[in-house]
Formats: sequence, structure tokens, C-alpha cells
Amino acid sequence: MERGLKKWGEVGVREKPRIVVITGMGGSGCVGDYVYALARMKDNSVPVIVSKDYKLPGFVSEKDLVFVISYSGNTLETISAYKQALARNTNIVIITSDGYLAKEAESRGIPLVKVIEGIAPRTALPEMLYGVLGVIDASGISIVSKEEAANALEFIKENMKYAMEEAYRIAVEINEKKKDLVIATHTPFEVLAIRGKNEFNENAKIPVKTDVSPEWAHNDIVGWEEPYRRDWFALLVVDPEDKAGMKLIEFMKIIYSEAGIETYTVELKGRTLLEKLLYGSLLLGLASVKLARLRGLDPLETRNIKRYKSIVKEIIGS
Ligand code: F6R
Repeated sequence: MERGLKKWGEVGVREKPRIVVITGMGGSGCVGDYVYALARMKDNSVPVIVSKDYKLPGFVSEKDLVFVISYSGNTLETISAYKQALARNTNIVIITSDGYLAKEAESRGIPLVKVIEGIAPRTALPEMLYGVLGVIDASGISIVSKEEAANALEFIKENMKYAMEEAYRIAVEINEKKKDLVIATHTPFEVLAIRGKNEFNENAKIPVKTDVSPEWAHNDIVGWEEPYRRDWFALLVVDPEDKAGMKLIEFMKIIYSEAGIETYTVELKGRTLLEKLLYGSLLLGLASVKLARLRGLDPLETRNIKRYKSIVKEIIGS
């Protein structure tokens, strides 16, 4: 967050775009989910579309701004989407640390936000997120102001110790239960369920289901009536300031308990949506790393992603 703040607003675009499109995969693609979550809750915000695919949506045109995000700069799906954006003459901003995309930005003069090299892509989330928000702010279509972003950094610093203790409690709880994990939440925090899932997948090497209310109450809820297995453990993420959200989570708790599923409730802290999102991400991220350690696993090792990346060219090329 500190690094992102230092570069905040150094890059911007002159023309107000029709829509902002954010394309990327995995830890880089998730940045788009955060920007969407923040834009969605703001009146009159520029529309934000997230695309985690090698195909850019057909409606994207030269009137739009496309953020191409790949921490490594070498992710094939993202490079493919970038080439389509280039062919359609859209405004492009590249967020990367290195690789093919960094070279493209330099050789073609494409606006670039360069993030720190040599860390796991998913751990660069705050810097990449602040990178995108800073560009949007400098382009006259602000979603988050620099002041709000700076306040969020202070808030996270103040709450770091508590987040670490709470993350440890969550990890111990999950490890003792040894059950499959559900991350359940309410809108507008669906991104925390997605990010939390990704973190527990990649760091702790476990599959995770996400349940987001109120949509959950229109389908998943029925699935919990007759599951084959009842050995799930549900982590409920709630905003205590959101009355409807609290009631939705209370109702979810009842349904889980009827299905024989134990729950653990995590309350979000923060004065703004940005702070709540960052605090929730920190908490879930730390918990997933602690769970990996408790299981004797290396959180940084993602063997199966490497396997996929070694064959992705054949798959997408076809
Ligand atoms: C690794 C990680 C992955 C990558 C993804 C795309 O930490 O989180 O999900 O983010 O494989 O790679 P990049 O981010 O380099 O485009």
C-alpha cells in the first residue's frame, strides 16, 4: 500500500472512458474484483467490467480504458486479452512487475505502473490495487481519493496486531476441524469470499466453496438441505455496521446449523468500504498462510499452477 501510494496518480488518461475494463488472471485478476466492488457502491461511478479470460469482451472498443494486469507480465491469457485491446485501439494501462508486458509498455510507450519485482503475485494485491485506483483517480473518474487510500494504510497499520491474532485463531480452528471450508459473506463483500478462497487454495492447498447472500438464498440454500457430506466448516464474514448484512448472516447461520455445519464468525473492521475490504483481505490472507504453516506446507509453492502454465500455450493456442 505504501509503494502504491508513492506512485499514486503518476499515470492517468486524458479522455474520460465509456467503461473501465480490468483484465487479468488469479492474484492479478482479483484486483479487478476489488475495483468493481468499490465502484459499484459509489454513485455515478464509471462502469467497471472484470474479465478473467483470454478473450476480451466483444463490446470493448476504442472508447474504453483497459487495465491489463499481470504481476509476472507473462500470463498467456492476459497477453492474449492485451493483444485484442491493442488491435481495437483502446486506451491501455499495464500493471506489471516485469516480463513481456513490461517490455511491450516500454517499446510501445503504453502507460505503465510498475510494481515491485520478486514477490508472489497474490501478495502484490495492495500495490496493484492502489496502482489501478491511482490511475483512475488521476483520470478524472475517481473511485477512491488519495486521502482515503492514505487513511486506509494508517488504519491497516493500527489493526495489524489484532488481525494477526485473529488470523491465528481462524487457522487453528480450521486445522482442528479438518473439514472442507466454506467462506460465506453478504454483499458488497463477495470479493472477500473470492479472494479468501484463492488465498486458502494457493497458500493452504485446500478446496473452498463460496456462499454469498442474498444470492445464496436463491440456490445454495437448497443444496444445504440434502448434501452427501456434512463435514464442512463455514467461516462467516460480516460487516457489523450493515444491519441487513447482519440479518442475512444470522439466517445463514441457522441454515448451516440445521445442515450440521459448524461456523466461525469474523467481523470486519474499518471506517470505509476500502478499509473493510483491505482488513478482510489481510485477515483471510494471514489465516491461509498460518494454516499452511500448521499443515507443514509451503504457502509459496503452487505446483499445479506451474503445471498448467507449462501447457497453457497448447490449450489456448488450439
Ligand atoms: C500466484 C498467484 C496466481 C497468479 C496467476 C496469474 O501468487 O496468485 O494466481 O496471479 O497465475 O499470474 P500473474 O499474476 O503473474 O499474471
